[in-house]
Amino acid sequence: MKTKPFLMLLLVCSQGLSAQFTQKPLPYAYNALEPFIDAQTMEIHYSKHHAAYVKNLNAAVAGTEAEKMSITEIFAHISKLSPAIRNNAGGHFNHEFFWSVLTPEKNTKPSADLAKAIRETFGSLDALKDKLNAAGTSRFGSGWVWLYVGQDGKLAICSTANQDNPLMDMAENKGMPILAIDVWEHAYYLKYQNKRADYLTAIWNVINWNEVSNYYKMAKLK
Ligand SMILES: [Fe+2]
Repeated sequence: MKTKPFLMLLLVCSQGLSAQFTQKPLPYAYNALEPFIDAQTMEIHYSKHHAAYVKNLNAAVAGTEAEKMSITEIFAHISKLSPAIRNNAGGHFNHEFFWSVLTPEKNTKPSADLAKAIRETFGSLDALKDKLNAAGTSRFGSGWVWLYVGQDGKLAICSTANQDNPLMDMAENKGMPILAIDVWEHAYYLKYQNKRADYLTAIWNVINWNEVSNYYKMAKLK
């Protein structure tokens, strides 16, 4: 289990062991996820919010013991690091991960292995969506909802506050994320205003199941 987050993060985050964290290009145009996620929201979300986490993360690690750490190592020691590092390292990773599990491509589907695990754990894909949506609507304030592979190797759902994630050493629910949904208001407010549930219903139209399946495969690698 120890090497799995590292394998995944190498693919998701653009930096290696350098202290200078950078933002990968968005893998599609700002308007590519219309009408489910509007172009203005995507542009502000990527070029302002995510960019600010990267800039603030670099400032927060400068001159600290975290300066030489990879983001994986930062998460493994996050409880001993500053709140600024925790918020911005989470903010950077969570957004990069989120962009990667969205796509304008239609009809992506869970792999056979992932589909089987979803059926065994939740009963059906629709039941999984309902549970993730319920976790998202009940998250008080800002945060994220996650589908992840727990330390027991099984699929599970959780939500985290602020920019926390299941890779952090203090996480109540630890594991390898395979799907994330941002439920901060900045992710949906321009189009959906206070209707977070409508945003969560719509987002399933742009989930990249091919990528989620890849993450599941990596998480299951022994
Ligand atoms: Fe966000």
